[in-house]
Amino acid sequence: MRKRLVIGNWKMNMLKKEALELAQRLSELLSHLNQVDIVVAPPYTSLDVVYKVIHKTNIQLAGQNVFWEPSGAFTGEISPYMLIEAGCKWVIIGHSERRDILGEDDNMVERKIKASINAGLIPILCVGEKLDEREKGYTMKVIKSQIEKGLKNLNLADPNSIAIAYEPVWAIGTGKNATPEEAEAVHGFVRETLRKIFNGIADNIRILYGGSVTPENIKGLISSPDIDGALIGGASLRAESFAKIARLIGGMPHWT
Ligand code: PGA
Repeated sequence: MRKRLVIGNWKMNMLKKEALELAQRLSELLSHLNQVDIVVAPPYTSLDVVYKVIHKTNIQLAGQNVFWEPSGAFTGEISPYMLIEAGCKWVIIGHSERRDILGEDDNMVERKIKASINAGLIPILCVGEKLDEREKGYTMKVIKSQIEKGLKNLNLADPNSIAIAYEPVWAIGTGKNATPEEAEAVHGFVRETLRKIFNGIADNIRILYGGSVTPENIKGLISSPDIDGALIGGASLRAESFAKIARLIGGMPHWT
């Protein structure tokens, strides 16, 4: 039985004061929700203030990125151990904004995944096709390649030591989300691909959907068998909407 998982990716938003207020409100709204694992990923500069608010609650902390070396002359980078010291248990790796805007490739993603797992962080590997790739019928090919390259030579015994997020690039921040049927087709394929890599434990690895998730569309998505939760950008910046999504993912009625 896979426990559902919801992650709020705050991206490059929230100065400390705003981050503090959002974390406080989320703690109030979500402190009794144990049916779902809840994670927030603030920018690096707000990790400490958010950690102080949430560390005694059920809300966990994630980094939005990481470097693969433990320390050294890598100006501007953050190591897995620095994230752990800041209170992180999780780290988002290979987000399409990093791949497309910052030039991150599958080889870098693979190194980041390995370094994170070795340090004790749980990586969330993001994969997803662009609009032209979908239109040309290359979706599954792109997803397979990103997963196989990102997880190359990785031996995993514990299915909870990693999660996958399927985020169609055309759905991120655009208001266009994949239909539950479109998302489930890819999630089922991700599961199949994981089975070929990890055999038995693949059935217990959580696969999240991401891309314009809202309180309105989450119900349809989460009722699909291979969608185990969501990675949420825009809607995670408002406490009420993130909390509503988390409650719906946890199978709770929302209160409005
Ligand atoms: P979005 O972002 O919910 O704003 O589309 C999702 C993501 O990039 O993880």
